[in-house]
Amino acid sequence: MRILSGIQPTGTPHLGNYFGMMKPAIELQEKGEAFYFVADLHALTAVQNAATLRANVQELAVDFLACGLDPARSVFFRQSDVPSVTELAWILSTVTPMGLLERCHSFKDKTARGLHASHGLFSYPVLMAADILIYDSDLVPVGRDQKQHLEVARDIAIKVNEIYGEVFKLPEPSIRVDTATVPGLDGAKMSKSYKNTIEIFAPENVLKKKIMGIKTDSTAVELPKPAENSAILGLYKLVASECDYRAMEGDFLRGGVGYGDLKKRLFAGIWEYFSPQRQRREEILADVGLVDSILREGAERARSASNPVMARVRQAVGL
Ligand code: ADP
Ligand code: TRP
Repeated sequence: MRILSGIQPTGTPHLGNYFGMMKPAIELQEKGEAFYFVADLHALTAVQNAATLRANVQELAVDFLACGLDPARSVFFRQSDVPSVTELAWILSTVTPMGLLERCHSFKDKTARGLHASHGLFSYPVLMAADILIYDSDLVPVGRDQKQHLEVARDIAIKVNEIYGEVFKLPEPSIRVDTATVPGLDGAKMSKSYKNTIEIFAPENVLKKKIMGIKTDSTAVELPKPAENSAILGLYKLVASECDYRAMEGDFLRGGVGYGDLKKRLFAGIWEYFSPQRQRREEILADVGLVDSILREGAERARSASNPVMARVRQAVGL
């Protein structure tokens, strides 16, 4: 089974990225041949400064490796190191109905949030379909917000197969229900664009400050607190043991414990959860050239995997 996913280098990776995409992707490494990439071509729709983009790519690669992406097991590469993906995106765009893209929420959401309404942003799902189809992917682990893009990729593959015969395998999404939406500091979906993120590798004092700043209501210490939709409890569930989580849930329901104490427990939980990853990150950072050589080798393996598919596509369409 071939597993594939990508993540955009548009900022510092946060807990939403980790629990929504990186952790499931890392766990799936055991289940098949995984291809994971840094979607730098996609990021051009949002990051238009060369130095920032390069720094973001480097940071994301370091963080993903630190979190457990194993380059001995998985192919880890930069999207732009496989240039034929843009050729495939063009070919796919010639069969993609405009209406299919016009229905995508992501373009509307992103432009509503102030992102430049470029053609690249509009046709973003076509490039994403190319990313998936070019490696004959079977399974694509992503967060829930990417579900529609996977449906688009399948629709495009079906369309190509209808016109040109059986060219593409149909990919399946893999969306974890337990961590489908990680809450941010304000209780809404954690996202860079909402400025409510907790970075995976934030320094201790920054992490503490962010957690202590989580929005809460004014329920008095002795009273029971609303557990449903609580960002504190929602985040704690991701990092604590079942037993510790139940204890905190009990404190919410019974009352008698203030938000300050609950936040301190959340901070300790997050800090401890990421302690092995922080250590691995230090080791990776100390090994100059390591990340570059991993990405270079990944690019070669990704290009070899894409070649037979591209040959099949060119043959099928008449190029
Ligand atoms: P952001 O919303 O911060 O810009 P991205 O859109 O770059 O994050 O998301 C990268 C990956 O992380 C995607 O697979 C996405 O589904 C996942 N992801 C991001 N935020 C969350 C969240 N709050 N909960 C679950 N998954 C998330
Ligand atoms: N669009 C995805 C995101 O914003 C990133 C991405 C690009 C991707 N190409 C992909 C994810 C292919 C899975 C498969 O998170």
